Amino acid sequence: MKLLRVDMKKAFVIGDPIVHSKSPLIHNYWLKEAGVSGIYEKLHIKPSELESFILELKSKRLYCGGNITIPHKQSLMTLVDYVDPIALEIGAANTVWFDGDTLKATNTDGFGFGANLDQNCLGWDKGTKAVVLGAGGASRAVVQQLKHRGFLEIHLINRTVSRAQELALVFGETIHPASLDHLNSALKNADIFVNTSSLGMDGAKIPFVDFSKMAPGAVVTDIVYSPLETEFLKLARKNKLKTVDGLGMLLHQAAPGFEKWFGSLPKVTNTLKDIIVSEIEGKK
Ligand code: ATR
Repeated sequence: MKLLRVDMKKAFVIGDPIVHSKSPLIHNYWLKEAGVSGIYEKLHIKPSELESFILELKSKRLYCGGNITIPHKQSLMTLVDYVDPIALEIGAANTVWFDGDTLKATNTDGFGFGANLDQNCLGWDKGTKAVVLGAGGASRAVVQQLKHRGFLEIHLINRTVSRAQELALVFGETIHPASLDHLNSALKNADIFVNTSSLGMDGAKIPFVDFSKMAPGAVVTDIVYSPLETEFLKLARKNKLKTVDGLGMLLHQAAPGFEKWFGSLPKVTNTLKDIIVSEIEGKK
């Protein structure tokens, strides 16, 4: 007989490497806040161990679900019973949970991106023209959300233009792929600029970006959150544009998983943000 232990209230994050994951800090904080007796654990699972991990998860049900991070976000999709349309569109999953006996997977990165802007920059999605820098995994979630929120013209700028072109094939004619030298011309009258590339990470210098031609009241956001105010955000602030840092995306993408596993939708507060900032700064 199958052992059903959904009452265990345990969730996980799996990845390789996993040691730097901030997710346990976030979820264990929310568990304490909600007064739920549960635990969220990080587990080091190598690619060769992923299939047996998921099989055991399904047979033993020791966890109610969890998060999946690099390098398992794509391979996981072949191992679960159901992949929702959002994860299919993004081409990667980061959250699994049980719906009855069915192990389901979704991707909450796009939701996290949108919810962060909803919380910090009301009306951000009223524009039509977006510029996204970077065409990696994170970019797919951002592009999916921008398209879902009604942006009609999304300029996808990447150092390797073929990667941007691949995304245009997935997301359709809304996407205009181009190389880095088209960045400043694409910014003309743009309503939002999103950096999804690793440019500017850990304070590294960025190439010249001309934010002065963006639409009045345009928004600039960065999914890099270390440092919290990246070079892109600093430059945008100097150009009197609205800026939103990327830490909120990390926190908001975590919330739907918590709700699925532990039953309530947690809040992203400044207190939680401060805890994560201290953790990041302490590790420097
Ligand atoms: P993620 O999944 O976090 O998005 P990724 O798939 O490694 O990570 O993508 C990183 C992005 O940053 C890519 O768009 C990458 O450009 P390439 O596709 O040309 O590699 C971009 N990137 C990284 N370093 C860069 C640099 N020095 N200049 C410009 N773009 C850079």
